[in-house]
Amino acid sequence: MTPDGRNPILVAIDTPDPGHARDLVRRVGDSVGGIKLGLEFFNANGPAGVRDVASGHDNLFLDLKYHDIPNTVAGAVRAAVQLRPTILNVHAAGGAAMMEAARHAAEDEAARLGVRRPLVIAVTVLTSLDDADIGSVGQKGPATEQVVRLARLARDCGLDGVVCSPFEIVPIREACGPGLTLVVPGIRPAGAAKDDQKRVMTPAEALAAGADWLVIGRPITGAPDPAAAARRISAELAES
Ligand code: C5P
Repeated sequence: MTPDGRNPILVAIDTPDPGHARDLVRRVGDSVGGIKLGLEFFNANGPAGVRDVASGHDNLFLDLKYHDIPNTVAGAVRAAVQLRPTILNVHAAGGAAMMEAARHAAEDEAARLGVRRPLVIAVTVLTSLDDADIGSVGQKGPATEQVVRLARLARDCGLDGVVCSPFEIVPIREACGPGLTLVVPGIRPAGAAKDDQKRVMTPAEALAAGADWLVIGRPITGAPDPAAAARRISAELAES
């Protein structure tokens, strides 16, 4: 658990099938801190599907990674706030004005609806990109420097946090201090298959490094008994 006694696991429900998503959430919902729905689920099922699967759960991370002109992103964020996410995200590479517009839109729409404002966090550099990829799109590497540069920019734009790999937690904390919420995928319990994740940490290691939320998908959703897998990871964290 986190120092404040919260279950930090956000289970990634990566399926286009609403029945499968509902079933997974029903089975693991009580053993995790929240659920993450991303582009795969959203593009198949839309806002109604999100409402259906997420209703009754405390924390929804709506992982739709907005990246467009500020006015369009602000509109998307206003619409997303109606789904009551705890966290939503944008690409930091969309720039300062876009991030500020996202943050203000979240604030305004939450106030209008009388609901809690979602945390607005930024994706810095996709972990699927290496130093050569970063150069090929005209960004200045190495990757960790670009991650830290964008994390600072996100913080300066008033964003609440960033999505980062476990190995970026320490450099970001050193550069940006303790205030940013760090949402961390690339997590594998000891002994679990890595799948397509290359550099991973265990849940306890990532928490010890300073993660606030751990995004965990296949180690839970691909397990023969997802509920047991979620309980096992939660129990491991409770002991750490
Ligand atoms: O199944 P697994 O635990 O690898 O799922 C991780 C989740 O986190 C997936 O939904 C994936 O899209 C997401 N993610 C990631 N790496 C990033 C950003 C998001 O794995 N850098």
